[in-house]
Formats: sequence, C-alpha cells, structure tokens
Amino acid sequence: MTLSPRPGRLAGKVAFITGAGCVGPGWGNGRAAAVLFAREGASVFAVDLEAETMAETVARVEEEGGTITTHLCDATDGAQVEAAVRACVARFGTIDILVNNVGGSAPGGAVILSEERWRAQLDVNLTSVFLACKQVIPVMEAAGGGAIVNTASTSACAGPVRPRSPTPRPRRRSSSSRASRRSSTRPSGSG
Ligand SMILES: NC(=O)c1ccc[n+]([C@@H]2O[C@H](COP(=O)([O-])OP(=O)(O)OC[C@H]3O[C@@H](n4cnc5c(N)ncnc54)[C@H](O)[C@@H]3O)[C@@H](O)[C@H]2O)c1
Repeated sequence: MTLSPRPGRLAGKVAFITGAGCVGPGWGNGRAAAVLFAREGASVFAVDLEAETMAETVARVEEEGGTITTHLCDATDGAQVEAAVRACVARFGTIDILVNNVGGSAPGGAVILSEERWRAQLDVNLTSVFLACKQVIPVMEAAGGGAIVNTASTSACAGPVRPRSPTPRPRRRSSSSRASRRSSTRPSGSG
C-alpha cells in the first residue's frame, strides 16, 4: 500500500506511541507510525521497553526533521504507564493521539500454550491497551478530544486451526450435480 504524504496534517498534535521500536532491524508498526506521524507534523512521545530499539526510531524521525522524545516503559505495568503519560504531558502539554501498538502473538492454541504464556498474551495485547486508555482518556477529555488507534492483526479474522483429520471426509456432491438434482425434483415455476 502506498501512503500519500500529507505534510502538516498533524501539525501541533502530540502522539503517544507504545512499542515505538522494533524487535528486529527495519520497520515495525510502531516505528512506522512514529516516523509517519512526525513527517506529518506531530510531536512524538515514543514508549518502549528497550532503549536500543528506539535509537533507530529516533534517528529516522530526526532525519526527517521531526520531533521525538523517548521514554522507557513496560506497557503492561500500570504505574509505569501512568508515569509515562505524566512525562509526556510535562514535555508536550497534552496528548492528542494514542497509538496502542504494543502486542504480538505467541504460537499455539489452548492445548499448546502454557497458562503463564496465555496470561502474558492477555497482558501484552489487552491490558496494555486498557492501561494506556485509563491514563490518556482523561488527558484527552480535558483537552476536548483526541484519537485512539489500537493495532490489531488480520489473524483475528482467520478461522481456527484444525488438526488434519486422520480419515478422509466423504466427498461433497459437486455444485453442478446438486443444481441438476434440484432442478429435476422441483416443480417448474416454484421460484
Ligand atoms: N509484524 C507483523 O507481521 C504483525 C502483523 C499483524 C499485527 N501486528 C501487530 O503490530 C503490533 C506491533 O508489532 P510489530 O511486529 O510491528 O512490532 P515489533 O514486535 O517488531 O515491535 C514491537 C515493539 O514493542 C516493544 N514492546 C514489546 N512489549 C512491550 C511492553 N510490554 N512495553 C513496551 N514496549 C514493548 C518491543 O520492544 C518492540 O520494540 C503488535 O500489536 C502486533 O500484534 C504485527
């Protein structure tokens, strides 16, 4: 997908982005949002667990002449999120855009995942969103509005993963044979 640049669209806005680094080299969704938002004029408050990974985000934003401040924070820890939101307001005065980007998926279903891993998945994908909203929404309300973006995944639209059936299922009749059967058993003109 190609994004048409809209310079100045976010001028004067403050964006609080969680997971603004990337686990590997290149682009993660948080880093991409930070760079795009800064390109369009927003001041970016970039939050991540890792300082190292945010260094590349900062370099890319600054290359484009954007404004970015980083803050180390575990997005699943309420006290740390509260401190991060306070630090952002102290630095930029408000928050107009919250990007809840922290998340990820551990492989495996109910049988394979450990209970500990399951709870960690809930924390990283859901609790992180709850905690940031809890702190940021009052700031937005005081300012008269704001926008919240939650990064999700198209995996949510995929069906359940089924193990391969050991015995082949009976073959379904083809649609043409079903159609011919219907037309031969229905009285004509029944609609
Ligand atoms: N990469 C994909 O193919 C893909 C596909 C669909 C959805 N997503 C979603 O995009 C979002 C970002 O994933 P990505 O793969 O683009 O980025 P990524 O996983 O490369 O980077 C995420 C960043 O979040 C940080 N992070 C992880 N846990 C954190 C925590 N508890 N607190 C603060 N920071 C934390 C990591 O240090 C990392 O810098 C996730 O919500 C993911 O589910 C990714």
